[in-house]
Amino acid sequence: MDAIEVIVAKRDGRELTTDRIDWVIDAYTRGEVADEQMSALAMAILLNGMNRGEIAAWTQAMIRSGERMDWSGLDRPTADKHSTGGVGDKITLPLAPLVAACGAYVPQLSGRGLGHTGGTLDKLESIPGWRASLSNDEMLDVLRSAGAVVCAAGSGLAPADKKLYALRDVTGTVESIPLIASSIMSKKIAEGTGSLVLDVKVGSGAFMKTVERARELAETMVALGTDAGVRTVALLTAMDRPLGLAVGNALEVEESVEVLAGGGPSDVVELTVRLAREMLEAAGIAGKDPEQALKDGSAMDHWRRMIAAQGGDPDAPLPRAAETMTVAAPASGVLAGLDAYAVGLAAWRLGAGRARKEDPVSFGAGVTLHAKPGDVVREGQPLMTLHADEPARFERALEALEGGYEVGPAAGEHLSLVIDRIT
Ligand code: URA
Repeated sequence: MDAIEVIVAKRDGRELTTDRIDWVIDAYTRGEVADEQMSALAMAILLNGMNRGEIAAWTQAMIRSGERMDWSGLDRPTADKHSTGGVGDKITLPLAPLVAACGAYVPQLSGRGLGHTGGTLDKLESIPGWRASLSNDEMLDVLRSAGAVVCAAGSGLAPADKKLYALRDVTGTVESIPLIASSIMSKKIAEGTGSLVLDVKVGSGAFMKTVERARELAETMVALGTDAGVRTVALLTAMDRPLGLAVGNALEVEESVEVLAGGGPSDVVELTVRLAREMLEAAGIAGKDPEQALKDGSAMDHWRRMIAAQGGDPDAPLPRAAETMTVAAPASGVLAGLDAYAVGLAAWRLGAGRARKEDPVSFGAGVTLHAKPGDVVREGQPLMTLHADEPARFERALEALEGGYEVGPAAGEHLSLVIDRIT
């Protein structure tokens, strides 16, 4: 077999056999198939698609490219959730300790920010001392002591995806449902969780801009998880406006701690509790009330243990950006729209995200919202505060926000927070 034969088959719209898929993933991982050949194949897949059988074979081949974790020796069920990424999406931070407080183990391998979307590891790294890289034994120790662990995937987990994802990022081949579904699910299945809840974001601030595309992605991922023996359910949730009031690494940690203390913005609390219920149900845990665990301090207790077990100081002051700028309401009326992509792009330009893969993030940078769509505002009142380490960043952030919010006579249309549930 050779790479050209596989590329030509997909280029001409033919189905790839399992043998061809197994061969090409294995040869690419070993360096026998070159990056330029794999990028041609990824583009052919993006243009011509793959059927469910091909996607399943592709996912299994990526899982087999590395190690598979096994938590079957633990005395409680495991549950995980994955978000396809958005703006202000800090849900993992309160959710992991909350679900642990309700009796499941939560082993969560997370990622860093991608483009305008934030990353869980970048957020947690704003806590002084906190470490994202753990060995498998350390992961197990944190799980046993805190019930939840959030860390970076080691290099041994789905290495084919690691290589392919970096290649797709620079070849315009990220936005393919078969490639996104197999990329996410190969890592989640290899991670060894017994159950999985997928939070598939929809809207301007998400990879999937329409409900139809999000549904197709969710259905594909649920089928992959279920076929691999992982109890998998997906929610389609709104990402047409930012989630919560804080966008940016330390700002989002602060908001997550508010939720764990029984407060926080209502949309963040509602989604956290809903996802916790889904995770507990998928893990087969009945009779636990996540709302109660937020009120009685048990979720906060698990958070503190989880942060401390990974070297962090849960009481340390969080980094703050040196400079702030207020954006005022241009008129009196109702905040009709607040575009998630515009706010995400502004936060990225303020320093919360990276321009290049190897860049550091600014932990204090980001956007604090003072109003959400539907709120009544008065001309001149603060709509948002921008945070940056260097004042030079404000101008480009303001450009990103141009046209991204609108004050009108009445509330605009927006997506329901939870749009659909896919099983
Ligand atoms: N996240 C992933 O892990 N993979 C993708 O392809 C897209 C988002």
